[in-house]
Amino acid sequence: MTVSTPSPLTSDADWWRSAVVYQVYVRSFADSNGDGIGDLQGIRERLPYLRDLGVDALWLTPFYTSPMVDGGYDVADYRDVDPMFGTLGDFEAMITDAHALGVRIIVDIVPNHTSSRHPWFQAALAAAPGSPERARYLFAEGNGEHGEQPPNDWESIFGGPAWTRVPDGQWYLHLFDPAQPDLNWRHPEVRAEFEDVLRFWLDRGVDGFRIDVAHGMIKAEGLPDVGFNSMTTGRRQSELLGKGRLPYFDQDEVHDIYRAWRPILDSYPGGRMAVAEAWAETPQRLARYIGPDELHQAFSFDFLDATWSADSFRKVIDTALAESTIVGAPTTWVLSNHDRQRHVTRYGDGEVGLRRARAAALLMLALPGCAYLYQGEELGLPEVLDLPDELRQDPAFLRTGESRDGCRVPIPWSGDLAPYGFGPAGSELSWLPAPATWRALSVAAQAGVPGSTLELYRAALRIRHTHPALAGTDGITWLESDPGLLAFRRDTGGAVLTCVVNTGDAPVLIDGYGQPLVASEALTERDGGHLLPVDAAVWFERR
Ligand code: BGC
Ligand code: MG
Repeated sequence: MTVSTPSPLTSDADWWRSAVVYQVYVRSFADSNGDGIGDLQGIRERLPYLRDLGVDALWLTPFYTSPMVDGGYDVADYRDVDPMFGTLGDFEAMITDAHALGVRIIVDIVPNHTSSRHPWFQAALAAAPGSPERARYLFAEGNGEHGEQPPNDWESIFGGPAWTRVPDGQWYLHLFDPAQPDLNWRHPEVRAEFEDVLRFWLDRGVDGFRIDVAHGMIKAEGLPDVGFNSMTTGRRQSELLGKGRLPYFDQDEVHDIYRAWRPILDSYPGGRMAVAEAWAETPQRLARYIGPDELHQAFSFDFLDATWSADSFRKVIDTALAESTIVGAPTTWVLSNHDRQRHVTRYGDGEVGLRRARAAALLMLALPGCAYLYQGEELGLPEVLDLPDELRQDPAFLRTGESRDGCRVPIPWSGDLAPYGFGPAGSELSWLPAPATWRALSVAAQAGVPGSTLELYRAALRIRHTHPALAGTDGITWLESDPGLLAFRRDTGGAVLTCVVNTGDAPVLIDGYGQPLVASEALTERDGGHLLPVDAAVWFERR
């Protein structure tokens, strides 16, 4: 161990049960050196902003040494920082400052695959079929007379076959880009390596891990066919994500890996945690990743996928809360991340989308459990839909025409000219261009402005942290309400907070829940009650 940054936060080992975690897409958050690319020093400089926003922790997307074929989810060295983002020293300085400000740090770990530039894969390519070097990955012989067909019908999540052939005729598996070869997790060296990588970052003080493709590391024995793919039926296998079974995802044996990881996390002080990016057929199977002997959390993507309707929200909230009660862990709510269209745009874009996104934030932040925010949602940023194709970098774009670049555009901080303070003063570079409309959405344009999205988030987070009614981790009580309306109560120790969301098509008069604390749109007083506009949410309190 080299450096340790003892956190002043170690006393609360259960912090993750109700935390608000802010996802930093490192490349697009803040650029300290003017090369147009966000970096660790940029994050460090903006820590006071994040503390003032009121978040408990940051989740940093991968900043490790990488050829950046998939935005850093193709790791060539798991124990170092890519020069694009800074140095290990920058990481240590950043985490020390974060802890001093009371902000925890969660880092991404990418165990399903390495980069094709990783020394292990380079060694595998240089070695012969059947060699120990190849055994750490999933190499196989092809089908057909000369092995010219892939070993099975598996499809990459990014489109096209999940197999690539090497010059000696063998094929290797890559569930994502060909530059992301899948590791063989039945190999003891692979397991030992990642346990050591966990310790490497835990020794540097990280408070937790976000586990990339946490459902993917074990593949069904014999690598059986799925039975269809876009080549044979036009239907993509990835359509089954979160809905069906695939032989390369959510295999029972994957849980052995987490049962080995948990004691490592538990051997460090201060509540080191792990959150799974996992996709499973049912909420029940997803819940199997969580528990005292496995992981602490798994993202509730059903909440992210819910459409803008009271019914749809209520259904996913009830299911998620029921599952979390069974496993004794909080639900992990999320509305946006670096892989999905921003929720302003999903909910209708433009003014309507923004109103709904603001209301959804009040909904999410009133729920018990942990909430993950994606950078820029506190500014009400929409998806950038009109990026020129030649600037798009997502490897999925070339294979499927779908691109995740539109939610990865650098954050606007201040000023009148793009990239709006993303870099140091005078810097005009940013790896993706921000649209002109983002001038009005910058942090500086919204800070201190009553009614701005930034001030709405700040107010909601302040209340969430201090209001006694939200202190508990108990469930919610639904209140009877008109269709189109979502109304529930949280209460602890005599204080009551009621959250009401109007997804219907007419304003609704609300009476009897006490005083409004924060609302996503202005309320009007009427007949002793309050009129809640369409596409809006409000918190009331009664003490
Ligand atoms: C990450 C993606 C990434 C993929 C492959 C994920 O689910 O969130 O951004 O492309 O894993 O690592
Ligand atoms: Mg930079």
